[in-house]
Amino acid sequence: MGVELAGRSYEVRIGAGLLENAAQHCAPMLRKKSVPVVTDDSVASHWREPLAASFAAAGFDTAWHVLPAGEQAKSWQHLAGLCDWLLAREVERGDQVLALGGGVIGDLTGFAASVLKRGCGFIQLPTTLLAQVDSSVGGKTAINTSAGKNLVGAFHQPSLVLADLDALATLPDREMRAGYAEVIKYGILGDAAFFDWLDANGSDVLARDRAALGHAVATSVAAKAKIVAEDERETTGTRALLNLGHTFGHALEAETGFSDKLLHGESVALGMVLAARYSARRSLMSETDADRVTRAIDAAGLPAEIAALGLDCDGARLAGHMRHDKKMDAGSLPFILLRGIGEAFVARDVELANVAAFLDEQLQAH
Ligand code: NAD
Ligand code: GLY
Repeated sequence: MGVELAGRSYEVRIGAGLLENAAQHCAPMLRKKSVPVVTDDSVASHWREPLAASFAAAGFDTAWHVLPAGEQAKSWQHLAGLCDWLLAREVERGDQVLALGGGVIGDLTGFAASVLKRGCGFIQLPTTLLAQVDSSVGGKTAINTSAGKNLVGAFHQPSLVLADLDALATLPDREMRAGYAEVIKYGILGDAAFFDWLDANGSDVLARDRAALGHAVATSVAAKAKIVAEDERETTGTRALLNLGHTFGHALEAETGFSDKLLHGESVALGMVLAARYSARRSLMSETDADRVTRAIDAAGLPAEIAALGLDCDGARLAGHMRHDKKMDAGSLPFILLRGIGEAFVARDVELANVAAFLDEQLQAH
């Protein structure tokens, strides 16, 4: 499958055994016999050996930069360390850096590639469901700073994406569910038939049934590729639809300190429930559709009730976090709301005081 961008088009290959055969897929793009690979220690424990063996069999060496697993790798400190390491290895503009891991490794490596010698190549080898269906495709790269998440970054498209379904065999179940939230997102935002399909087949996807998983990843990537091709830099509103659930979710992540209490995908899942309920409250979509969204999230074992989080805060405090959202635009915050399942749109008339009152009700419900 391709991501079509003038002068920067690339392929996303989805299937089994891609990491074990990575060298064959990457070799046409490699100019040197030594290949730099960035990963984290958890991913390395499962996938370093097969990847290194694939390159060794094809006559390449792999050089490894292994970071601690977790969001903290997306920092100035690790960006500097990675750039220094790549410079010491004399990586040049025409070279490719491999990013083996989830969204954290992909975002950090992509950002380093965007600034190294004003831009070198990188290849995404996503190993989480979230990274396969979302972060490895589309060229958003970033690190976090003390001011917030993903506030320093660049658009820099990869040269190739290899989404190996086998990599998900070692992914913890909770991470699998968190990635599944981004899969459901494509159904809710723009594809009611896919939402229905997930209703019937979601448990097979989560159980990593090969056929179901392959269909879910391919459908998600196709949806993302189409949106990115239409609006690469999020300027027309089309790409903004991918932020469904993210504004509510961002407030929840901020309130829980971007900690393991709520993973990114979990916050997006609950954020989509809140976006659906808020849309129903404003009579934009039916309560029936909002209930279907809630049930789908709940059935996947994802958080569907904000009251169940036991947060010690009110709606105004959560809305306050939204004011620091990077999507703030000249004092107003665009929200992605729904007219129905598969019918997301950008609403620019949402008042944060109204959202705060809605959240107060949700926090007290049940
Ligand atoms: P992650 O990269 O932290 O991976 C989650 C955990 O799973 C880590 O502990 C990792 O070591 C482990 N892991 C990864 N693959 C594994 C495997 N195959 N087997 C065993 N363990 C494995 O988290 P994530 O959910 O993939 O990504 C979240 C990040 O992605 C956030 O920083 C978020 O901001 C970013 N993101 C970026 C975009 C984008 O468009 N660039 C989109 C969505 C999210
Ligand atoms: N994950 C949102 C985007 O890529 O635009």
